[in-house]
Formats: sequence, structure tokens, C-alpha cells
Amino acid sequence: MFPAVRPRRLRRSSALRGLVRETRLTPESLIYPLFVRHGEGVRNEIPSMPGQYHFSPDSLVDEVGAAHQEGVRAVLLFGLPESKDAEGSESWSATGAVQLAVAKLKQNFDDLVVATDVCLCEYTDHGHCGLIAGGAAAATGEVDNDRTLPLLARSAVSHAKAGADLIAPSDMMDGRIGALRDALDAEGFESTPILSYAAKYASAYYGPFREAADSAPQFGDRRSYQMDPANADEALREVALDLDEGADIVMVKPALAYLDVIRRVRERFEVPIAAYNVSGEYSMLVAAAERGWIDRERTVLETLTSIRRAGADMILTYHAREAARLLNG
Ligand code: PBG
Ligand code: ZN
Repeated sequence: MFPAVRPRRLRRSSALRGLVRETRLTPESLIYPLFVRHGEGVRNEIPSMPGQYHFSPDSLVDEVGAAHQEGVRAVLLFGLPESKDAEGSESWSATGAVQLAVAKLKQNFDDLVVATDVCLCEYTDHGHCGLIAGGAAAATGEVDNDRTLPLLARSAVSHAKAGADLIAPSDMMDGRIGALRDALDAEGFESTPILSYAAKYASAYYGPFREAADSAPQFGDRRSYQMDPANADEALREVALDLDEGADIVMVKPALAYLDVIRRVRERFEVPIAAYNVSGEYSMLVAAAERGWIDRERTVLETLTSIRRAGADMILTYHAREAARLLNG
């Protein structure tokens, strides 16, 4: 082969490399996750996630405005409640932080996808993603799948009523996509799409998020509902089920330790695929860059490109705003 074949010929200039580039990373494929709470003028940095903040709805408009200027066209909202209870009832309050923020964003931007995370764990006093079973099962602290579904559905409908463009359930209860689809349709939201956290693993990489969202379980862990990190065939079954129940987009989460799962979902299903570059992935990169061990900008772009190369159409990432700026610059 050598010397006739020389792969280096196509690497000699930036313009040549651009011609043969296989994977494109564009701001349009990024979704920016943001944390919203009640109040005014709030912009509190999250200690475990430097550069990420808790915003009140008014400050959120400023942040989203700046990100929008830089090319971000989609956001995902997480809410912090004023009070928690066993059912997580603030998750479906019309005056919850997420509901207020969605309405404000929709008033201020017409060219923006506003997605909302649907789950109970930020809103329950026990920190689990569903109701804790009563009766004989109570002592085990088990999460009651079927009694959780109507609560999630209520929360999803309240987000749609506030104006959400995309509903993203992250709870991992069985049957929740069907339950949300039925509830949304029954309330006249048959055109509101669902982004399902379909293959969501019980991951240690969510550590910084649980501080950010104050959603750590008060007992036990999430392994009875989130997936075992050792399983990939099971991810394909989860994705197939969610698609059957009506999911419009399916997600693999986390992204980096699960690039093989993204690739397998890509090869099996011809549907839009999302990947979540989660809090622990963000905070590790930021911490190493702060120490001067890696070049932050190059590492961010390389990381996001690798997730696209694995097969994700869109990426939920706390780097969305900085990546959009870098890509447009
Ligand atoms: C809530 C939820 C979590 C994340 C998104 N939605 C945490 C969890 O399941 O414990 C993780 C996001 C991140 O780590 O960036 N169900
Ligand atoms: Zn949850």
C-alpha cells in the first residue's frame, strides 16, 4: 500500500480536513439544561458545577437570551420546589418554578424549544423518583410503579399547559411513556412530543446534579428503577418499549461511559436519538481544566463530537452555551 496510499494527504490543511470531516457538531444539535427556582434576580452558582447556576425565572430569561444570541435553540428545565412532600405535589403546581419559567421563556423567545424534565425526585421529601409503596411493602421502601404514573402524567400536563414544547420524563417507571401520551392527548396536547430518557443508567456520574437539584434519595438508591451499567441488550428493549408507547425521541444517559449503547441504538432504530452529557462528565472536565491539566475548549468540542460520532443526533449538555460560542466563533 505505502507509498501509493498516504492518508496524511487529506490532513494537510484545515480546509481539506473540513471537506472530509464525517461528523458535524452544530449549535442546533445542543440542548442546554438549566435549573430554575422561585424568586427574583436569583443567579446562584452551584458549587458542584462551576459555571452553572440556580436561576429565578427573570434571570433565566437573561441567561437564555445570551445563550440564544450564541446559537442555542433548545433548553431543558429542572425545577427546585419551595416545599417537598411524599407525593412531590409541587411538580404539577401551575405556579411551580418550572411552569412559571416555561411561560416566561415562551413570551420572550419564539425561536426556542423549551423542554421540561418530568420527575418527582426534586419534589419528594424522600428524594425518590416515584411514590414509596404503602401497605405491606412500606417497610421495604420500594417505589410503587403504577401509583406513580398518574402523578407523572399530572406533572407533564401542567408543563404542557404552561407552554412546554417537549416533555422529557426521566423517572424510569415502566409504562410511563404510554401514561404520559394518554394524559397529554386527553388534554388536547396530542401534538406535544415526548423525549424519553429511555436507557437511563443508575450512574455515579449524577453526583453533582443531586447537589444542584437537591434530589439525593434519603434512603436506598435508584437501582430498582434505573438500569444496571453492565447491560446494553436491555437498553435496546427499553428503547423499543418506549417507542411502542409513543416516544418521539429516545435518550441514552449518561453519554461518555455509554457510547457503545448510543451506537447500538443508532444501528437498531431509525428514530431521533439524544444523549445526556451529564453533570459528573461536566464537572470532571471543568475541574481538570481549572487545574490546567487539559485545554477546556478543545476538550469540550472533542467530547461533544465523540457523542455525535457515536450516533446521537442531539446532546443535552451543560457546555451548550460555551460550545455554541466556540462553534460560531
Ligand atoms: C432526575 C434526573 C437526574 C438527572 C436528570 N434527571 C438525576 C437522577 O436520576 O438521579 C441527572 C442529570 C445530570 O447528572 O446531569 N430523575
Ligand atoms: Zn428522578
